[in-house]
Amino acid sequence: MFGFNPEKARKDFPILENMKGVYFDNACMSLRPKSVIEKMNEYYLQYPGCGGRSEHKISKRVGDEVANARREVKRLINALSDKEIVFTKNATEAINLVANGLKLKRGDEVIISDKEHNSNLLPWLKLKKKGIKVKVCESKADNTFNLKAFEKCFSKNTKIVSVVHISNLDGVENPIKDIIRVAHRKNVPVLLDACQSVPHKKIDVKSLDVDYMAFSGHKMLAPSGTGVLYAKKELLENLDSFIVGGGTVYDSTYEDYKPEEIPQRFEAGLQDYSGIIGLGVACRYLRKIGMKNIEGYERRLNKILTEELRMIVSIIGPEDAELRNGIFSFNVPGMKPLIAAKMLDGAGFYVRGGAHCVHSWFNKHEMEGCVRASFYFYNTEDEARRFVEAVKKIVKMVK
Ligand code: ALA
Repeated sequence: MFGFNPEKARKDFPILENMKGVYFDNACMSLRPKSVIEKMNEYYLQYPGCGGRSEHKISKRVGDEVANARREVKRLINALSDKEIVFTKNATEAINLVANGLKLKRGDEVIISDKEHNSNLLPWLKLKKKGIKVKVCESKADNTFNLKAFEKCFSKNTKIVSVVHISNLDGVENPIKDIIRVAHRKNVPVLLDACQSVPHKKIDVKSLDVDYMAFSGHKMLAPSGTGVLYAKKELLENLDSFIVGGGTVYDSTYEDYKPEEIPQRFEAGLQDYSGIIGLGVACRYLRKIGMKNIEGYERRLNKILTEELRMIVSIIGPEDAELRNGIFSFNVPGMKPLIAAKMLDGAGFYVRGGAHCVHSWFNKHEMEGCVRASFYFYNTEDEARRFVEAVKKIVKMVK
């Protein structure tokens, strides 16, 4: 019916066997399937070596497994080459790598949107100290992207656009093809924060023609402490390293060093090999479920909540569930978001309350925060309906 069987998929997640509550905090952190956990353990139990650096079989095996994982990531996002895949510890590190590696100078300008996560805001704000200007493109009244306002943000000094793909605040997807088209017409590259899109929908970096893309493993079934920077090969060749050290050079003297090829040039020090290998398995698992299936299914769950609750809670973002993917952010009128989130926890629903690292947006709107329910393919329609009843009860209590 959905192109995959959610009940069957749930069996792949050992934690769901004993979980008393309903896990609706997937935009923050996903659960992990057994296959990912087993692969991580396989590294520690069978080949806990140092990623191909030593001349023995154990190290060689790690090197091969990491290379496989890189190919899995490449396949998931349809990159041209596995050299375009840099392993980082999360999307935050990936964005910092670009922000620091572009060699921006005083007077250069960066365009972001007004709905960026702190991870795609702070790395740019930090550059203001060096005289770099950060332009913030305001959304429309319904919190969707304003392409006209965006076009007006450009100047001859614009050096990069860095925007979120699907917002962790309200689930709205930015018109990224249009954004890239406009930016490329002006010869400006685009960095995409794809933390909430790569785990939930089919992403094809080649057809998007996106220049840089950052995403985190922990939101897509993979171990915590894993992430990816994708960048077109020629751009990666020109990006300055951010952290250097072991594994990033061919050779060094007391005076200088000769950097490694991409992507190793950016992966300094011994890596989280078990995490990277686990990330490869997570990518394969997601492809098996089918990214289109995941996207459609999550919207369906969102529709259940939206139809039942739209009249009694205030939804952040557009009312149409189709526009908010797998994220339902809301406030219970007359109740602080953290109290509502705690009450939902008491009722057995694990959601997130607060500013979701988008403090800037809430400050601008003079709001304290909101409650966010976020779905993944292992959630069920029954869970969505039970959540509706729990929220209805809380709303009644305030009245
Ligand atoms: N980005 C994470 C979230 O939105 C932390 O929950």
